[in-house]
Amino acid sequence: MRCFLPENAGQYWAGQCNKPPCYDRGLPPSKNRVSLTEAAPLDLDWVRSRFPALRSDWVLMDNAGGSTPLGAAVDRIAEYLRRWPVQLGASYTPSAEAGELQAEARAGLAGLFASGGGPVPSPGQIAIGASTTSLLSRLARALAPTLVAGDEIIVTDADHEANIGPWLRLQSQGVVIRWWRIRPDSMQLELDDLDALLTARTRLLCFTHASNLLGSALDIKAIAARARTAGARCCVDGVAYAPHRALAFAEWGVDWYAFSLYKVFGPHCAVLCSSPEGAGMLANLNHEWMQPSDAAGRLEAGAYPYELAWGAAAVPAYLEALGAHHGGSAFAAIEAHECTLTTRLLDWLAPRPGIRIIGAPAAGPGRLPTVSFVTSRAAPQAVVAHTDSAQVGIRHGHFYAPRLVEALGLERATGVVRVSLAHYNTLAEVERLISALDGAL
Ligand SMILES: Cc1ncc(COP(=O)(O)O)c(C=O)c1O
Repeated sequence: MRCFLPENAGQYWAGQCNKPPCYDRGLPPSKNRVSLTEAAPLDLDWVRSRFPALRSDWVLMDNAGGSTPLGAAVDRIAEYLRRWPVQLGASYTPSAEAGELQAEARAGLAGLFASGGGPVPSPGQIAIGASTTSLLSRLARALAPTLVAGDEIIVTDADHEANIGPWLRLQSQGVVIRWWRIRPDSMQLELDDLDALLTARTRLLCFTHASNLLGSALDIKAIAARARTAGARCCVDGVAYAPHRALAFAEWGVDWYAFSLYKVFGPHCAVLCSSPEGAGMLANLNHEWMQPSDAAGRLEAGAYPYELAWGAAAVPAYLEALGAHHGGSAFAAIEAHECTLTTRLLDWLAPRPGIRIIGAPAAGPGRLPTVSFVTSRAAPQAVVAHTDSAQVGIRHGHFYAPRLVEALGLERATGVVRVSLAHYNTLAEVERLISALDGAL
């Protein structure tokens, strides 16, 4: 396997990230968070050998749109379809075996919600579905009977539409929507603004753990604590966060947390974890003669993509192996490497004339490697046309967060240029991106 590191990579490895943290403002010190200087450098040969699609002439940097799947996930899907092409629940051996594999997969996926600490949720707390959008829509349907006219739901204008639209639809039954709006100057959702929105009628607070455009992580624990004090529950979109940092669902104190496996190195499916109390609130979306007591049974109407769930269980296995290979936590090594890549890109971008970085201008633990920008020198689509021709896959648009784009004073139609890195990207690839951007900016 070829090493993709350039000659001068050592300075980044050795120096780690010495930028002052920015968006991690207020993030609680996690006992699982290893400081960047403690993390072992990522063994990129080891990492990249696990992703067959990286053996390509293309540099893939649209990972927040969809990451590259693990080879193990691909193999598991194929094997499952070959060997267990059956429905669950029958007494014949292949069906019984398939049931065992699904139980194992669900338990593995549950483990992802505790990779950063806290107890592992029970498998019944994990609902599997086609996408986060579909799971959150089902969640809204399952919560609808608990809401009466005048009840309030807070949504943000910084979210992907997946965690906005399903809640807006509840207005038809008299639910009142309140908007937690981003401050255009700081590009942050401020806790003070949230405090002003929470009332005795607030039932639910829906927010994104990290914006898929700004790349900034919110202090989920502090937000959940405020909501709880007001008697509200929290539904969190973790899609943009989960590929980059460990999850600690139980410790955060939220009731629902969803993310998509196809952005976390797996296939096209998604998972939604419910707290025990949250699960108890859900109406049953399953057949009337089925009365499941757990969240999975209530939310998963009919079959779910079994082979994809089995494939997705390659992700926790990979993260465990990655951690073991690096002598610690997988996400400590991931975070340090991502910080190195993000620092290089931001340091190159920020001083260029006409550039406006849409998000924090410096890397740090709470700053994910999703870098958006606009330039006065070229339209976003022109920039991307340039990188396309250099076989560097990035993207422009509003990324299904058009309300955020407009709130920041940008054009919904053209949006921003977004570079979204993953831990398998290399510094050499960032240099190739920079060369491609150089011609456009
Ligand atoms: C932050 C965020 N939330 C939700 C979604 C929706 O995910 P899905 O395609 O699984 O519905 C996306 C997809 O891009 C996203 O980036």
